[in-house]
Amino acid sequence: MGDLEDFIQAPEHRPKLALSHADGIPTIDLSPIFNSLPGSDFPHDLVHQIASACTEWGFFLVVNHGVPPEKRHRIEAAAREFFGQSLEEKRKVRRSEGLVTGYFDSELTKNVRDWKEVFDLVVEDPTIVPASPESDDEELTQWTNQWPEYPPEFRESCKEYVEELEKLGHKLMELLALSLGLSAKRFQHYFKQQTSFLRINHYPPCPSPELTLGVGRHKDPGVLTVLAQDDVGGLEVKRKRDGEWIRVKPVPDSFVVNIGEITQVWSNEKYESVEHRVMVNSEKDRYSIPFFFNPSHSTIVEPLKELVDSQNPPKYKSYSYGKFLTNRQRSNFKKLNTDNIQISDFKITN
Ligand code: OGA
Ligand code: NI
Repeated sequence: MGDLEDFIQAPEHRPKLALSHADGIPTIDLSPIFNSLPGSDFPHDLVHQIASACTEWGFFLVVNHGVPPEKRHRIEAAAREFFGQSLEEKRKVRRSEGLVTGYFDSELTKNVRDWKEVFDLVVEDPTIVPASPESDDEELTQWTNQWPEYPPEFRESCKEYVEELEKLGHKLMELLALSLGLSAKRFQHYFKQQTSFLRINHYPPCPSPELTLGVGRHKDPGVLTVLAQDDVGGLEVKRKRDGEWIRVKPVPDSFVVNIGEITQVWSNEKYESVEHRVMVNSEKDRYSIPFFFNPSHSTIVEPLKELVDSQNPPKYKSYSYGKFLTNRQRSNFKKLNTDNIQISDFKITN
């Protein structure tokens, strides 16, 4: 190499300080969890990486996560086939107030203005939930899946993908538990009768991307989200340190993991759920597949007893996850006079 001086670019040619590359969200290599001996604890270093990613970012990428790439490619290919059909075909499996799974675009919902179309499926079929946010605990109903006829492999590819993501979700919860000083299986029982669901998002190219968003700024209400994004990019995360929006660079075969609001409450805000949004572009179709890992409807969400004491009193009152979920679901279909229920409604402010 010659003198550095010979390599200095004129200012207009210098790479802009790309926040997403120079100082982006952390990437965590999960291979140690598959290499450790059965019955032994996860390596300390890995647990530490999880703790600092959750504290500093609320977001991280995972690689070597154990999900076979061909299963992911299969569901991605099936999704392209499904969304490639006419609106009329897709609306044959449309979602409605009584049937919350299946296809929808923003025209079918009343208070969502996102530039995207979606297919939702529940992990447990049927999923048990309260009949309404007001109903008492005895009054339950079921959410079931609906499946398109085309492509024929759609259902099977979703099923096998979800099985893998569920396994990964449990591994991540074990790591999260250890990182909070809890026993590895501390969270496991909440996911019996889980209300987890898988969403397939298609963001079509947008003629005026500067005028809209794929998904407006929001936090995920569940426990944990594990997202597969394709190579187009568009997901942005609000960095805790300074409030800057940081683009999450697509990394092939990685997953983006983020902390949901339930984990924020469970950890008594040691881990915060972080805002994120999706930008659209004028040229490319973008696909993303979030797996929302959510507990049973009967879960009473509150700061974990082990993580509160007189020095660190609970920051939230308890709430019923089933009622929270059904309230959110209903407000997606009706213009309600009241706002969406928020975890801040349960915040203790004194
Ligand atoms: C979501 C979400 C991000 C993406 O669906 O909650 O944040 O990249 N999606 O599609
Ligand atoms: Ni989200």
